[in-house]
Amino acid sequence: MSYQDLRFDQQDAAARTGLAQRIVGGEVVVYRQALQAFDLYDLWREATLRGITKSVGKAAADRCLTDGFHRIHEWVSPTKIPELTDAVYAEIDPLASEFLERFMSGAFPDVDNFYYEKKPNVRFHIPYDLAQSFKKEFDEFAKDHGQGKIAAHGPHRDSWLDCPSNGLNLWFAMGRIRPGNGLTIYPEDYEGEYKFQPSGDIADGQKLHKAISFDLHPGDVVMFHTDHVHGSELNRTNETRFAISCRLSIDKPHFPNLHYHHYVNANWHKSAALRPLAELPAMFQPSFVNSLATRARFKLLGEGKPVPAPTAPEIIGTKVGDVIEVALADLPVGEVHGVSAALCVARLSEHEVVALTRRCPHAGGDLANGWVDGDAVVCPWHNLPYSARSGKSACESLPALKRVFCEIRGEKVIIDPKSIIAMDDGSDVAGAYAAAASDGDVQAG
Ligand code: FES
Ligand SMILES: [Fe+2]
Repeated sequence: MSYQDLRFDQQDAAARTGLAQRIVGGEVVVYRQALQAFDLYDLWREATLRGITKSVGKAAADRCLTDGFHRIHEWVSPTKIPELTDAVYAEIDPLASEFLERFMSGAFPDVDNFYYEKKPNVRFHIPYDLAQSFKKEFDEFAKDHGQGKIAAHGPHRDSWLDCPSNGLNLWFAMGRIRPGNGLTIYPEDYEGEYKFQPSGDIADGQKLHKAISFDLHPGDVVMFHTDHVHGSELNRTNETRFAISCRLSIDKPHFPNLHYHHYVNANWHKSAALRPLAELPAMFQPSFVNSLATRARFKLLGEGKPVPAPTAPEIIGTKVGDVIEVALADLPVGEVHGVSAALCVARLSEHEVVALTRRCPHAGGDLANGWVDGDAVVCPWHNLPYSARSGKSACESLPALKRVFCEIRGEKVIIDPKSIIAMDDGSDVAGAYAAAASDGDVQAG
């Protein structure tokens, strides 16, 4: 499953009949230039520029207009990004109703009513290597605002974050967005069973299939069901991505976990008489009452969301003396598997295998749950490719993975955890591995 790439044609409303239901049924749709088609791009761009002016000055806003939001990190210090994001939120929030009413009537002409989350999400992700020096400030921001606003968010379904399971997620590109700094969706995992952590992120040990990412121009929108597994890429580019996203549902929102977010009934909001009551219809359902009771219990008893039993990291193969042997048949081309607590093995092609350290230096993602892309092994949590040959990613602030001897012999793959391979770029990765191994950091199988 991939995605449908559509160009808005305002004449062709018939083609959009039933589109919302198809998206809630799992189709991923990229509508090109959707915001321009409904005269909405300027509404949000002007609001954003007001927020930038108020937080970091008019000169910075003017430069965004001339050079693009994707270069904002060139003239706004990373330390200012949290404050700037808050200022843009303050300008965007009051426009959410008008924006969504106009967008929905244009994009989904057959939808009579819908329910929307009052607050859109403002997302500025500057290049990771720049943000890395301000990790503490950015983490603080995430505590107040949730993940994914100014730093990468791991794979999740929105319902794991107490959002509806029958919603539409509308993810609007406000600046240029490239594969390498955008949104990821895992289409093949759409209906898979997954454990998740109390934080709402996928649990460790859950294997994912290849993610898709998007090449977007300002005004394009990615539309997908809130229960697709999705997340963000660690920004490995030298551009900032700026997106604003909204969640809504066509039918009354269904909350399978906690009913925490407030959803506005769009038709009630349009009526002056009903507007003050527009949040009530979404609350008239058992999930709201259950949620109040659960949250009261959590508070009284000091409980939190239950923690799922951890899934043991996958380990295949057998230790034979100093080496690990894996049946070649257990390692199809394109797959990655764990062979010890510290190592994974990847089959790059019919005749090429590599063994690498398996924990991603960014946030500990398990590469054994990722996949092969060309000659790279991809971390499944934030879609970061590591060269299987050099062990490096495009994020220079992250250490390289370490690589050990691994080859195909007949019907077996042989891995020697103690035999370090010098990387083909001449880096001192082998030395780093040896140091880690002697510290007990890298364990044999
Ligand atoms: S890229 Fe984030 S954990 Fe690997
Ligand atoms: Fe999400």
